[in-house]
Amino acid sequence: MSKPIKTPGDSEIIMTEVVFPNDTNPMGIIQGGRIIQLMDIACAICAQTHSSKIAVTASIDKVSFKAPAKLGDILTIKAKITRAFKTSMEIYAEVWTKRLPELKPTLANKAYFTFVALDANARPTAVPPLKPITETEKKQYKEALIRRTSRIE
Ligand SMILES: CC(C)(COP(=O)(O)OP(=O)(O)OC[C@H]1O[C@@H](n2cnc3c(N)ncnc32)[C@H](O)[C@@H]1OP(=O)(O)O)[C@@H](O)C(=O)NCCC(=O)NCCS
Repeated sequence: MSKPIKTPGDSEIIMTEVVFPNDTNPMGIIQGGRIIQLMDIACAICAQTHSSKIAVTASIDKVSFKAPAKLGDILTIKAKITRAFKTSMEIYAEVWTKRLPELKPTLANKAYFTFVALDANARPTAVPPLKPITETEKKQYKEALIRRTSRIE
């Protein structure tokens, strides 16, 4: 029996968090490392959902902090696979922040993560192929190869 085709939507992750005092600097702005930690967790769940394997972070690139998230802000962390290679997967993550009372979503951060699936001996192991469906997913899929080439260089 052939394996079912996996799409980006099958492993998409959306997490919600609140910025607590422990997450912030003295001005009440979230620390960059905390944001990256939350993105890393969402991307790990995404990679492991796609591959059905333990997956580790191999690299993080194109991180850009667009707007500050502040104490009490509601964070939405989104992670979606853009392309599966042999044992690695590129995951695109975004963090959106909402603040009372308007609750208008603002893009705070975005980045591309590469995860590698591991076997029981912690060696890289093959992951299922990915089939992009939407126009955006197809564009991300195509561009992932270009990003991978410059990443490897
Ligand atoms: C990531 C890791 C498993 C790769 O192991 P490796 O023996 O170097 O594996 P290989 O050279 O065979 O590469 C395996 C895949 O990883 C990819 N890869 C390796 N290093 C990479 C890097 N720095 N960035 C992006 N991809 C990387 C390769 O391109 C390859 O992808 P492919 O199979 O889809 O073509 C290994 O370097 C490792 O364990 N790193 C530490 C991971 C970790 O602890 N992360 C937690 C945060 S520190």
